[in-house]
Amino acid sequence: MSPLPLPPLLLLLLLLLLPTVSFSLSIPYPYNFSLHIDCGGLTNSTDVFNTTWISDRYYTGGATAVVSEPLLFVHQQEKTLRYFPISSGKKNCYSVKDVPPGKYFLRTFIAYDNYDGKSHPPSFDVAVEGTLVFSWRSPWPESISRYGAYSDLFVTISDSDADVCFYSIATDSPVIASLELIQVDTDAYTLGNGNGFSNSSILVNYGRISSGSVQWGPGFSNDTDRFGRSWQSDAKFLPRRGKIRAISAIRDVINVEKEPNFFPLKLYQTAAILVGGDGKSGDYLGYELPVDAKLDYLLWFHFAEIDVSVTKAGQRVFDIFVNDVNISRVDIFKSVGSFAAYDWSYVVKNLTNTMLSIKLVPVVGSPTICGVENYAIVPADLKTLPDQATAMRALKESLRVPDRMGWNGDPCAPTTWDAWEGVACHTLKDESALVVSQIDLGNRGLKGYISDQISLLSNLVSLNLSANSLGGGLPEGLGQKSLAKLDLSDNKFTGSIPDSLTSSNLQLVLLNDNQLDGRVPEELYSIGVHGGAIDLSGNKGLCGVPPLRECPLFWGKDGLSTGGKVAIGLSCLFVFCMLLLAIHMCIKRRRNDYDFGLPHELMSLAAKRNRYQRQKSLMALEMESQHAKGFIPTYSSN
Ligand SMILES: *[C@@H]1O[C@H](CO)[C@@H](O)[C@H](O)[C@H]1NC(C)=O
Ligand SMILES: *[C@@H]1O[C@H](CO)[C@@H](O)[C@H](O)[C@H]1NC(C)=O
Ligand SMILES: *[C@@H]1O[C@H](CO)[C@@H](O)[C@H](O)[C@H]1NC(C)=O
Ligand SMILES: *[C@@H]1O[C@H](CO)[C@@H](O)[C@H](O)[C@H]1NC(C)=O
Ligand SMILES: *[C@@H]1O[C@H](CO)[C@@H](O)[C@H](O)[C@H]1NC(C)=O
Ligand SMILES: *[C@@H]1O[C@H](CO)[C@@H](O)[C@H](O)[C@H]1NC(C)=O
Ligand SMILES: *[C@@H]1O[C@H](CO)[C@@H](O)[C@H](O)[C@H]1NC(C)=O
Ligand SMILES: *[C@@H]1O[C@H](CO)[C@@H](O)[C@H](O)[C@H]1NC(C)=O
Repeated sequence: MSPLPLPPLLLLLLLLLLPTVSFSLSIPYPYNFSLHIDCGGLTNSTDVFNTTWISDRYYTGGATAVVSEPLLFVHQQEKTLRYFPISSGKKNCYSVKDVPPGKYFLRTFIAYDNYDGKSHPPSFDVAVEGTLVFSWRSPWPESISRYGAYSDLFVTISDSDADVCFYSIATDSPVIASLELIQVDTDAYTLGNGNGFSNSSILVNYGRISSGSVQWGPGFSNDTDRFGRSWQSDAKFLPRRGKIRAISAIRDVINVEKEPNFFPLKLYQTAAILVGGDGKSGDYLGYELPVDAKLDYLLWFHFAEIDVSVTKAGQRVFDIFVNDVNISRVDIFKSVGSFAAYDWSYVVKNLTNTMLSIKLVPVVGSPTICGVENYAIVPADLKTLPDQATAMRALKESLRVPDRMGWNGDPCAPTTWDAWEGVACHTLKDESALVVSQIDLGNRGLKGYISDQISLLSNLVSLNLSANSLGGGLPEGLGQKSLAKLDLSDNKFTGSIPDSLTSSNLQLVLLNDNQLDGRVPEELYSIGVHGGAIDLSGNKGLCGVPPLRECPLFWGKDGLSTGGKVAIGLSCLFVFCMLLLAIHMCIKRRRNDYDFGLPHELMSLAAKRNRYQRQKSLMALEMESQHAKGFIPTYSSN
């Protein structure tokens, strides 16, 4: 029987439906964003495990290199590197834009292999989303220096930009060989309310063990893992005590690949069993995991009863001890039956040792385990207020800040690193975020202009851009309430002084030696009256306050003042009358051009003075002493 020909529209519909149908047969998995970057790689490639690696991109600077012995490395993406020499700045990043907000698995491959011939593996830090996660310190262990190492973590990205930043220690060049970012279930590795840790904490892998197995998973074998996790053999983590036997499942294990953690089937197909354990010998099945005692840890235990000789509850019972504290009694069969996955998690706090010990102590029969994961719970560091980070990026563009200053990633975070060069930050009183308090870029050869986004820096106390070649107008947004010191002297700024500059707590205003013009706002002048310092000299076009020349009649800061306009309106009739008279007189005789300017002696006097410091009155001195305490800003870094 031949199939009926379908009308084209229906055929099209069917074709559209087909992928959905086949998709719904497997597990619906909406988290499909993934990125595999071959750092330093020039071409796209697909590896033996069918992972597509894209050529190097999303970096803020640096250069490419190749390891010295490429044949020692398995994959193409492991052989090429990106390094960030100090000429690219102290802080460089991979910044991936337009990342769907959610939770991500992030993995780096870091290798050195003497690529630069200096036999000095670099010291550097790595921060993810503004939180310090890895610290590489020279010298590296020999095997890592030669063959490289993978590191991974889970992180929540809420702002659609994934930032992985590198910070040079001393003048070393951070280095990276590959970077992977894979979206995972939003609820992955979360615990019930109250029992867990903040959503925004980063989970850094301190051991992901598959018991009774060799290393497998992405990058190591064709076995897949939805999250891109790779599982290590347990051989390295066994303590001396207790002999262990590996067993394999003779049939499939159920309850695997379940949301939110999608633990793969392969994890439950092998297990370790204590040999001859019966609780009397004092033997136990255990692992020892190296940790950093400053942090808390999230442990995930994976069990399955894959031994066919266990047929009912009570035949295999054991207690789990973590750092010699009994935390739970386990009877896998009683909980889920046989050939079914059983996962159990626990948070370890208050460590006193750099080795975390896990012991499965027999009660009945021999203990067994399929795997265990250990994650350091790294609390998210404070970040710069998003508005202020935006403003700083705009300033980086507009001021054309050179690469060597390393203005990349978050301007202030992580708090353990210095802020961007020339920038000082402090923590908001409520400890919710970091803010920019000081920008000090005097004499840096800057050539751009000041972006009006500077108005977003609402905690800026001091701005020094003196002795550069900056041009353009002074933005209206300058003069935030917080601003106390402003030094824009010796640039090429043009236009008038914005009114906004008067509404602040300014104590020092240096605008001398620019090309500003127009009327100086009266309130700006009063800074001097209140004991502050102000210098407007060396701007040919400014007028209106002593010792500058007076402004032409009716001359506002941008030309005619409002008062001037009113005056003009009122005297319109008068002017009209005078016009008639003038025409009459002009016809009669030529006269000199009307000049509103000051006498020449006064002009030159103003030009000679470098800084304008108004004579202090007694009252002003009093006010100054009151201000003195509040004026000197304190910058704390955390
Ligand atoms: C990922 O999933 C979303 C819906 O969840 C879909 O709109 C998008 O096209 C998918 N992207 C890819 C590359 O499959
Ligand atoms: C690599 O693939 C990406 C798309 O994934 C493409 O945009 C890019 O042009 C490719 N690069 C090269 C060098 O072929
Ligand atoms: C590799 O992936 C492509 C699509 O991404 C698929 O068509 C192909 O069958 C895969 N090959 C192997 C060997 O898995
Ligand atoms: C964690 O974050 C997700 C998405 O941002 C949110 O839906 C969930 O309620 C959060 N859980 C907790 C315990 O805060
Ligand atoms: C993975 O599968 C591909 C194609 O099936 C094969 O060529 C490759 O050798 C396998 N790799 C490993 C490590 O088994
Ligand atoms: C360990 O703790 C469990 C409860 O969590 C308890 O049932 C068991 O008896 C304890 N084992 C020992 C040896 O104290
Ligand atoms: C850890 O130590 C803190 C204080 O040092 C204490 O309040 C807390 O209860 C301890 N937590 C555990 C799980 O022992
Ligand atoms: C601004 O920076 C310049 C150059 O670093 C320096 O000479 C000047 O004293 C600074 N201005 C203020 C007000 O500190």
